[in-house]
Amino acid sequence: MKANMQPIDTPIPTKRHTLLGMSPSVAQLRIDIESAARSEAKVLLTGETGVGKEVVAHEIHHGSRRSRAPFVTINCAGVPDTLLESEFFGHARGSFTGAFRDNPGLLRQAHGGTVFLDEVGEMSLRMQALFLRFLETGELQTVGAGAARTHVDVRIITATNRNLFESVSAREFRADLYYRLNVFHLHIVPLRERAGDITLLLDHYGGLFGQQHGRAAPVFSDQAIELLARYPWPGNIRELRNLIERVVSRATTQVIEPAHLPKEVLAAVSAANESAPKNVGHAGPHEARVEAILERLLVHRESFWTSAYAAFMSRDIIRDDMRHIIRAGLEHTHGSYQVLLGLFNMPAADYKRFLGFLKQHDCHLPFQRFRALRATRPADLPFRRVSA
Ligand SMILES: Nc1ncnc2c1ncn2[C@@H]1O[C@H](COP(=O)(O)OP(=O)(O)OP(=O)(O)O)[C@@H](O)[C@H]1O
Ligand SMILES: [Mg+2]
Repeated sequence: MKANMQPIDTPIPTKRHTLLGMSPSVAQLRIDIESAARSEAKVLLTGETGVGKEVVAHEIHHGSRRSRAPFVTINCAGVPDTLLESEFFGHARGSFTGAFRDNPGLLRQAHGGTVFLDEVGEMSLRMQALFLRFLETGELQTVGAGAARTHVDVRIITATNRNLFESVSAREFRADLYYRLNVFHLHIVPLRERAGDITLLLDHYGGLFGQQHGRAAPVFSDQAIELLARYPWPGNIRELRNLIERVVSRATTQVIEPAHLPKEVLAAVSAANESAPKNVGHAGPHEARVEAILERLLVHRESFWTSAYAAFMSRDIIRDDMRHIIRAGLEHTHGSYQVLLGLFNMPAADYKRFLGFLKQHDCHLPFQRFRALRATRPADLPFRRVSA
């Protein structure tokens, strides 16, 4: 239920959009969502457009005791005051031209549930006053229904991509309303600050759109992923999702290379490269990255999780680097993943998690080919410097 649906996302075949992400900021967000869901306090969600504020609002509602009651979204942007007021509070038949029947209003329809007020920073001062009165009393005054009031029980979640605090200073947003709404404040970080989540989102939406278009899920090459991780994503996850759909619907091959990505993405990344300081004298960055991780694993005896895994998730290394690391390790262990756990400083209990991670990210290499290496002398192995 929406008073005004904008911007529009094409519907996708999921029951509801689940919050995806493994970056530390998303892990923290999940903890905050759980605390917010346990409470009845008002929540203010902030973050750039497309970061997932509505997804988070849904998660809070679905985790709360109100999950079986309605979740109603009201978008405050670009709706004339009179229309917004009647959408909020309802109107009586004949209260204005065109009001042919009674309208209970969205707040009443959400009774027992959650109201998600999107783009709350766009509300006019008049609507802010009416809304504040409702928050203070919990009572609705239907447009054109005289003094009759009804009490509704709703939990309020608001969202904005504005800096509401600045709007308060500029006197565009009422300070008393701001403090009332800002009990729980959850800020969602932009995608460019959690680029480690991109692979996961590519897999998820690639699978979904592949299914929708009757095609195999796309496989993004390491170069394409590296490029996407450098793009600043002004439209955040919405933009990434739309890009994936575009790529899937146009692709003639399953493997997606940089050339298959939209021109504006390629142009933005190359413009950023040109303005970035040059990395003089840094030969073979791929090999240097892999060697650095292998050194941490094999010389400094760091755990795989805090070295290779952490670097991969924060996109300091790419899938191809991870495959090289695994390959180098398997060459030492003659193809044994069990032994590799010890070599990479993990307890045996991590076996399932480790293999699950490798399979999920297509870094699980067949062990048979390493069995044939039994006769290989250590000096012949790659990355001699670190394995010595
Ligand atoms: N963590 C996430 N995992 C999966 N999909 C996500 C995630 N965050 C956002 N999305 C998807 O991105 C799109 C935009 O999300 P959403 O509408 O929640 O953003 P928003 O912050 O409310 O944006 P706006 O400020 O423009 O209203 C949706 O299709 C949503 O399903
Ligand atoms: Mg939104």
